[in-house]
Amino acid sequence: MALRDDFPILQRQIHGHPLVYLDNAATTQKPQVVIDAMSDYYTQSNANVHRAVHTLAGEATDGYEGCRTRLKTWFNAERAILTSGTTEAINLVAHAWGRANLTKDDAIVLTEMEHHSDIVPWQMLAEERGVEIRYVPVLDDYSLDMEVYEASLEGAKLVCVVHTSNVLGVRNPLETIIQLAHDAGAKVLIDAAQGVPHDRIDFDAFGPDFMAFSAHKMCGPTGIGALLVRPDVFEEMEPFMGGGDMIQTVTTEGSTYQTNEHKFEAGTPRIAEAIGWDAAFGWMEQLDLKHEHKRLLEIARYTAKELRSLGMTVYGRHDDQDSAVVSFLHPTLHSEDLAHLLDAVGFAVRTGHHCAQPLLTRLGISSTVRASFYFYNTMDEAKLFVAQVKKILERFA
Ligand SMILES: Cc1ncc(COP(=O)(O)O)c(C=O)c1O
Repeated sequence: MALRDDFPILQRQIHGHPLVYLDNAATTQKPQVVIDAMSDYYTQSNANVHRAVHTLAGEATDGYEGCRTRLKTWFNAERAILTSGTTEAINLVAHAWGRANLTKDDAIVLTEMEHHSDIVPWQMLAEERGVEIRYVPVLDDYSLDMEVYEASLEGAKLVCVVHTSNVLGVRNPLETIIQLAHDAGAKVLIDAAQGVPHDRIDFDAFGPDFMAFSAHKMCGPTGIGALLVRPDVFEEMEPFMGGGDMIQTVTTEGSTYQTNEHKFEAGTPRIAEAIGWDAAFGWMEQLDLKHEHKRLLEIARYTAKELRSLGMTVYGRHDDQDSAVVSFLHPTLHSEDLAHLLDAVGFAVRTGHHCAQPLLTRLGISSTVRASFYFYNTMDEAKLFVAQVKKILERFA
């Protein structure tokens, strides 16, 4: 598979075995073009942005703003605020929009399927402002209870929902969720951390008010992500962090703020990371994302079926729009033990609660083993993985 050659880390041996990297829902590997773009910036153009007139500053500014332009084009969005990732993007909504627009007894709607980064900021705001949080339950078929959802919209100001579950791979019925929320007068925030790596989303047509995601889950660097915001909602946001770059004027009496995205990007931003992310988008342009999604889903379905036949409980359903994530558990062999045994022969998987404790509590478990697939993974790797799990079970279970 030619594109694997673009990822130098895939040449690594782990404990004398070739690396089989199946922890992509946690973070994806980086193609050489991303590594080169960041290294070139530091070796050739390193400077601060938006300030000095010298050549290096111009190159750094062009690189940083180039990432924003790429985001706006890729997602068809008018406003793209650069953040440190999904977590900061959601916290930004809580602080910059939530504090300005939510008061005591306002309600917000979350789901039991959310990642902690789409729960904790709202709990903090609820504590501070007396905002009510309503949770939409997850049903036994891993779908959201849409009847409860509709009822919970009564008087709600904001709906926060995960695009695709990082534990189950389930893609939620977002079009219906957005439509119903808007009909009820509520704004919608989509946590698209696991959505954008697999699906090229037209933000404007899709229709949420906010969408948060991270670069590192789509071949880009860690430390950078974005919040896309609808232009009218952008005007309802107040600055969160104060400092350099976000102001127009500062006097000893007070300050005025920028009116564009810089208003929410106080201080020296993530310049190398923005340049790296831009390169990651450039690399992804060559892929047929729909074809890749189908291919990876086939790998996930195969893996899920085989693991079930080995006695594993597999959580998730792998419908056509779901992502290639396979969460599973053995009745007796502890997930951490299985993960260690897999690591010993080169397989990288994730274990634990995956920062989604309410979902795992709903499922009646405290941990799963999670194998998640991305562009460079192959069916052969899935077959090796299943064979290795089988071997381990024969020996240890
Ligand atoms: C669904 C979901 N939301 C939010 C996050 C948080 O992303 P980050 O740690 O990049 O801020 C993750 C990361 O695992 C995730 O899977």
